[in-house]
Amino acid sequence: MTDSSVQKTAIVTGAARGIGLATTKQFLAEGRRVAMIDRDAEALMAEAKALENVLPVVCDVSQPEQVTAMIEQVAETFGRIDALVNNAGVADFGPIEQTSFERWRTVMATNLDGVFLCTQAATAELRKTSGAIVNIASISGLRASTLRVAYGTSKAGVIHLTQQQAAELGEYGIRANCVAPGPVRTKLAMAVHSQEIIDAYHDAIPLNRYGSEDEIASVIVFLCSDRASYVTGQTIASDGGFQSTGVGLPALRT
Ligand SMILES: NC(=O)c1ccc[n+]([C@@H]2O[C@H](COP(=O)([O-])OP(=O)(O)OC[C@H]3O[C@@H](n4cnc5c(N)ncnc54)[C@H](O)[C@@H]3O)[C@@H](O)[C@H]2O)c1
Repeated sequence: MTDSSVQKTAIVTGAARGIGLATTKQFLAEGRRVAMIDRDAEALMAEAKALENVLPVVCDVSQPEQVTAMIEQVAETFGRIDALVNNAGVADFGPIEQTSFERWRTVMATNLDGVFLCTQAATAELRKTSGAIVNIASISGLRASTLRVAYGTSKAGVIHLTQQQAAELGEYGIRANCVAPGPVRTKLAMAVHSQEIIDAYHDAIPLNRYGSEDEIASVIVFLCSDRASYVTGQTIASDGGFQSTGVGLPALRT
């Protein structure tokens, strides 16, 4: 088999729905095999059943032993790992004074520990393929906001962790980048976005709307592709312009 005829693979965590599922489908359309990782076994199996060239693996990315076993299973089944998308995430919005240590740890365990653990476990395989890592942060990791002490801090950690990974793994040919999505109407967002928050986002976003799962997925898939072969250590906001824009703009609109 020549290199160009090798069927590339990707691991997508949090693949049972939302941005992870859209990313899975875009990788499949490119001809990759995809390991779909999620801790929601029922939703994962229901989605995977309808797809070809996928390997669904039930795994909680915050649990080190489960992550090690998951990476071993994917490597054994696919024979290679070309991309790792650390997308699994949880959101929990609340004021600092009401954020118990347990709530803080729950957010950190998936959003930050999960990215560390999956990347560490996959590094030996990614070295063999000069693979790519894409971590999913959030605009909440780029700009502080009320109610996001745990979520925003976890995502800011993901942005810096990406830079650490790029700095250290670059010599193995591994690229690490980050996507910071703006609001997307997924189950995660709708659980914490009231109508008031939705209206405020529309005001604060130059494109005046939420993004779609596919609009985030296409940036992720691009960063994993050879078209981004000289891009590493970067965070790309896919956010309708939210991050680049100052505060107070709605009142200044014509
Ligand atoms: N939707 C948004 O507005 C938005 C904005 C910015 C960033 N994000 C980020 O995008 C990513 C995907 O979010 P989404 O909106 O598609 O959410 P979603 O809730 O629709 O999907 C997340 C998936 O991750 C899985 N998951 C959660 N914790 C897990 C764990 N510990 N182990 C394995 N699987 C786990 C869930 O079961 C679910 O299937 C998250 O990291 C989220 O923080 C989303």
